[in-house]
Amino acid sequence: MSPVLKWAGGKTQLLNSIMEKVPKTYNRYYEPFIGGGAVFLAVSPTAASINDTNEQLVNLYRQLKANAAAVIETVRKLDERSCDREVYYRIREKYNQKIASRTLDAECAALMIWTNKHCFNGLYRVNQKGRFNVPYNNKTKGKSISEKNLLVIGKYLQTADITITCADFEVICKDVCSGDFVYFDSPYLPVSETADFTDYTKDGFLPADHERLANLFKHLDHIGAKVMLSNNDVPLVHRLYDGYCIQSIDVKRMINSNALKRTGKEVIITNY
Ligand SMILES: C[S@@+](CC[C@H](N)C(=O)[O-])C[C@H]1O[C@@H](n2cnc3c(N)ncnc32)[C@H](O)[C@@H]1O
Repeated sequence: MSPVLKWAGGKTQLLNSIMEKVPKTYNRYYEPFIGGGAVFLAVSPTAASINDTNEQLVNLYRQLKANAAAVIETVRKLDERSCDREVYYRIREKYNQKIASRTLDAECAALMIWTNKHCFNGLYRVNQKGRFNVPYNNKTKGKSISEKNLLVIGKYLQTADITITCADFEVICKDVCSGDFVYFDSPYLPVSETADFTDYTKDGFLPADHERLANLFKHLDHIGAKVMLSNNDVPLVHRLYDGYCIQSIDVKRMINSNALKRTGKEVIITNY
């Protein structure tokens, strides 16, 4: 199983390092910031709670669980015609109507996948009103999904014990017990003042949220859960998680226009 969407902060580069650190045994798996779900799908736990504040993203996982075939069928129809600017902006508008009316159905999930594959850099960005506003990437044809991958994910979500929620990370962590494993992949702290990317939802993720997250990490450590977290390797992260096991890893950053700045460091932090 692999991610259905391209998602900012997708964990493809860090995946091997993260997988090496996933505990061999634990009770329930928690991922409060599920995003594209690269780690969750690679681990494929038998019992898990996944969560995100992005209502559209949560709808996608719920629809795949309820009826992956319906999502596939709608994406297949959208892929049948070749795309151009006019088609892209018309389908994006249809998607925005779904967002505005909060029509969370299989068609909405399919529109989310299709726009993700036809928008610039696979970004998910919304304006203050919650409208998806990423421009066209000029892709004219091609498949937006691997149908087999979606079917396997749908089957997995149905047969394993998977809870899918749409809430703040602190809310879903109230259920965590000793022996559970929690992986936090929150929106990252910026590497520089201008490089932040916190528009995943219209609320953003602020420094105060990072402090809230660090306090939660400490609380979960205290009650006997195993906790792992990833973020950029910046001084504030070292201060917030002082005393825990912090591994720094080199990563390539594709989005910087200056080639010299296309490498960076991220950290994986564990309490075990
Ligand atoms: C870095 S992304 C996760 C990347 C993901 N693990 C992957 O592999 O693609 C962070 C996610 O946190 C979500 N988010 C932002 N604020 C949140 C909050 N307060 N509680 C829960 N999720 C939140 C965003 O919608 C976004 O999907």
